[in-house]
Amino acid sequence: MTKLWGGRFAGGPAEALEMLNASITFDMRLAPYDLLASRAHARVLHRAGLLDDAELDKMLTALTELGEAVASGGFEVSIADEDVHTALERGLVERLGPLGGKLRAGRSRNDQIATDLRLYCRDHARGLAADLIDLIDALVAQAGAHVDAPVPGMTHLQHAQPVTFGHQLLAHVQPLLRDLERLRDWDRRAAVSPLGSGALAGSSLPLDPAAVAAELGFDSCAANSMDGVADRDFAAELLFVAATVGIHLSRLGEEVVLWSSSEFGWIELDDAYATGSSIMPQKKNPDIAELARGKSGRLVGNLTALLVTLKSLPLTYNKDLQEDKEPVFDSLDNLALLLPAVTGMIRTMKVNTDVMADSAPRGFSLATEIADWLVRRGVPFRDAHEVTGAVVAHCGKLGIELDEISDSDLAGISEHLTPQVREVLSVEGALAGRTTPGSTGPTAVRSQLAVVGTALAEWRVWADTKVVPL
Ligand code: ARG
Repeated sequence: MTKLWGGRFAGGPAEALEMLNASITFDMRLAPYDLLASRAHARVLHRAGLLDDAELDKMLTALTELGEAVASGGFEVSIADEDVHTALERGLVERLGPLGGKLRAGRSRNDQIATDLRLYCRDHARGLAADLIDLIDALVAQAGAHVDAPVPGMTHLQHAQPVTFGHQLLAHVQPLLRDLERLRDWDRRAAVSPLGSGALAGSSLPLDPAAVAAELGFDSCAANSMDGVADRDFAAELLFVAATVGIHLSRLGEEVVLWSSSEFGWIELDDAYATGSSIMPQKKNPDIAELARGKSGRLVGNLTALLVTLKSLPLTYNKDLQEDKEPVFDSLDNLALLLPAVTGMIRTMKVNTDVMADSAPRGFSLATEIADWLVRRGVPFRDAHEVTGAVVAHCGKLGIELDEISDSDLAGISEHLTPQVREVLSVEGALAGRTTPGSTGPTAVRSQLAVVGTALAEWRVWADTKVVPL
């Protein structure tokens, strides 16, 4: 009998129940964390006088062996094992006989699963951070190489004002840096150990949840045992961060799709990071960028799924909570798949600076420069806006760009429009003039790059610090 709960039942479970009830089909990846928590629990039972020295020794050795068997694939599980906790207790009893049954004292699958999932999330959040850092690094490298490369900056996907490509790439970096901050904030709240909460009410055995928490790399133990087993907002919050990362990747992906189209022609993707068509030999498709867009659907879906599962659940543990794991695994797995591909795509893309520079002044994107020039000469902005609008309309009618208008036409539109206005009708001039912090001018972008570079080095240290002592 493998079941942890057979005692009061006359017959075995119906097959339909067994199939539905089991989480062993997806929760075995928690085994290393469950075994880690079991080691800490064994030590606590020993300190409480519930295991003697020899028993603790045997228990720890068996847990090590079991961990090795799980890792090598030598430990086989079946649907009858129900879940990772049941399977591992079976493995322990197979190795230790009745001694294996002692480990369950003072704990329940309810505090075990809450602990295992927290450990898993904290461990994997660091990996997610490392992948984000790599992507930021690739964006920063491209930004550094194109600090002063002009591109048409857009609003409403229409030419608005010229910007530097470096600035635009760093505009994708900033949200990803905030995602790293979100992860670090989340981690602080997630660093609470539920172990010791038991089924829901704590334990009558002299356990030491604070010591267990410290051994597992947590900052503290649960302040309330009922919350300890019922809370899954740590998982929901991580899924929110994952969904937000997904949204940021989808916005970057969409831009890459546009930039690499023939209509834009700003970039060419490296062959290693693009795909072909089965029928059109000329095609080079931005599949990675499209999947970056497409994956956001499931990332948002996973967050939604867990939030809806949690809504209205009475305290404390309910089997509904078993539905917490797959969304978490799916979001983290998919980001682990997606991020390195996006990073490679960004790192290797070839930037067509000539095409971008040629396009930068088009669409009257320097019109604001004329208005600002008039303002510097004392014209109220309201009037400057009107005058500039008249210049744009005039050029539009003649089918010419702003710098092609004649001196006499300028003077005809407004007495304020002397030929000196031509000084600001160059993209380089417009960009160089943007010097305030956070602006698109090359000087401001260099400052931004320096700050990001320092931050990135600090983030690497955070991501490389192991919190779960596996
Ligand atoms: N497999 C279960 C889960 O994932 C473990 C906890 C089971 N607890 C219980 N009271 N049946 O949630």
